[in-house]
Amino acid sequence: MQIYNSADGLRSSLASDKLDGKKIALVPTMGNLHDGHLALIEKAKETSDVVVCSIFVNALQFNLKEDWEQYPRTFDTDCEKLRSVGCDYLFHPTETEMYPNGLDTQTKVVCPYLTDVLCGASRPGHFEGVTTVVSKLLNIVQPHEAVFGVKDYQQLIVIKRLIEDLCFPVKIISAPIHREIDGLAMSSRNWHIESDERPKVIILKEVIDWIAENILNGNLDFFDLESIAIERINKRGFEVDYITCCNSETLDFAANDDKNITVLGAIYTKKARLIDNVSVQL
Ligand code: PAJ
Repeated sequence: MQIYNSADGLRSSLASDKLDGKKIALVPTMGNLHDGHLALIEKAKETSDVVVCSIFVNALQFNLKEDWEQYPRTFDTDCEKLRSVGCDYLFHPTETEMYPNGLDTQTKVVCPYLTDVLCGASRPGHFEGVTTVVSKLLNIVQPHEAVFGVKDYQQLIVIKRLIEDLCFPVKIISAPIHREIDGLAMSSRNWHIESDERPKVIILKEVIDWIAENILNGNLDFFDLESIAIERINKRGFEVDYITCCNSETLDFAANDDKNITVLGAIYTKKARLIDNVSVQL
């Protein structure tokens, strides 16, 4: 695996791959890689000749400086994991490489409306940071494909919209949610879950699955389903940010004649914020 810290270095090396007609895929990450991330690399390898993974803990998408500072940086083990799945390139830029003029004056990419709801409502500015850094990474790598996880469903929808609205010549590929044995969605934030909470956090997936099953069985009283789900989560001792049934493409509240519905949820443990979702077709 070749490792580059500079955009120029990466670009000139990729230029010869492109000249050879190779198909390039980008998998953007913030590191602290788990099997869910590695599944994205494997997915990228299915359809591309060359896979570029980026690791950059993007300060622009963190609401709190503390969270950014405390985000785990595990570069050496990340490299080992990437090598084990045959990743070809790792792009690991510094803060100044990505934001040479500083964060405050950085030009930003804004995807309105879709980013005001769900996670965007409780994390103002977060998606602006994501769309800005993803735009930069796409411009640096200029891949044919980029792979994102369904785990961050809203992020995936926002990025698809960004690509469409700004005419990025890239195909977005989505990869399914990779889970722990009990069903908890893998996440770099799971290490913040305290041991007494760990057996109970599966309630998030349980209620989302329960709502999805109800919808598939014809119960479209979304508000009622959401209220029961919130009560069940509260009873397990967790605070709910949202449990919402949405139109899978627009992220608007689900309507009774929607054909594709995604049930999304976010809860707070003592130190973590966990998200999950499931989509159903009617
Ligand atoms: P990060 O949280 O590191 O996630 C990188 C990619 O891995 C995202 O596409 C995310 O959806 C995917 N992913 C995380 N956990 C997953 C799981 N359990 N199953 C499947 N895919 C999973 O998301 C980001 O970084 C950043 O916002 C980024 C896009 C890199 C921009 O900074």
